[in-house]
Amino acid sequence: MAKTNEVPAYCAHEGVYRQIEAKESKTWNEHIGQPAIEKAYVRFLDDLCEDGVIHEPKRLLELGCGTGQLLRYLCGRFGSLGHGIDVSKTAIKLAKAQTDVKGITFQTGDVTDLAAKHAGKYDLVVDGLCLHCLTDEEDRDAFIESVHEALTKEGIGIIYTMATPILRKEFQEQFGKLYGKRTYFVTADADKYSDAEVIDGQLQIPTRYFEHYKNIMKSLVDHGLLPMAFRVKLPTESKPLTHLAVAVKKVEL
Ligand SMILES: C[S@@+](CC[C@H](N)C(=O)[O-])C[C@H]1O[C@@H](n2cnc3c(N)ncnc32)[C@H](O)[C@@H]1O
Repeated sequence: MAKTNEVPAYCAHEGVYRQIEAKESKTWNEHIGQPAIEKAYVRFLDDLCEDGVIHEPKRLLELGCGTGQLLRYLCGRFGSLGHGIDVSKTAIKLAKAQTDVKGITFQTGDVTDLAAKHAGKYDLVVDGLCLHCLTDEEDRDAFIESVHEALTKEGIGIIYTMATPILRKEFQEQFGKLYGKRTYFVTADADKYSDAEVIDGQLQIPTRYFEHYKNIMKSLVDHGLLPMAFRVKLPTESKPLTHLAVAVKKVEL
């Protein structure tokens, strides 16, 4: 949860979206040279639909929607209404500019704070690759509480996230240093963030957090979210991270 008068590191995503806007890129993934929507996400959705886990959701929510391409895809696929929330006001500006269909709305907001506010109820709540951007354990718990809070009784949540185990050597060769479960990022205005730390002699902010996929599953269960289906893609030398996709349903605690 964001602390009063302090800026959490995840707010630094705003700076990246300003670069995305300046470069006239459409999406976060385009900015980092990846396909706009990951094939594995779509394959997982296909399986959930085929297995009847997802059945004609009418209202969708994406947490950490960025410029909104996944939400637009999902709303088009299911013929649903959609709402996207992102902490970056530039991402939301770009999302609105890229969305010319009715029934999809966007809002600047902090998804670690939703459980405390009325966010409405949704038949499908998706993690827009946001959980691994939350580097503080309380924030990660708050994110999972937000998923629980936003789901209807029969609704399905999808968490799609990078996780451990990681092949550390290969990861560090490809993506830079890993400190415990976190990666850090040097930014000129690091001193404005509450969770900046001096690392290797430089003030840096945490940027990604890779939890063991089994701990993520346990945390979901502890927060009253029962896994209905999941996929774990374990690391390889060329893709040294674990990817977890899990569909959850709410249970009363
Ligand atoms: C890896 S990006 C993916 C964005 C988008 N879902 C996509 O696929 O292009 C993660 C997103 O989560 C957003 N985010 C991070 N922390 C957040 C928070 N506490 N509340 C809302 N959005 C957050 C970032 O601004 C960023 O847009």
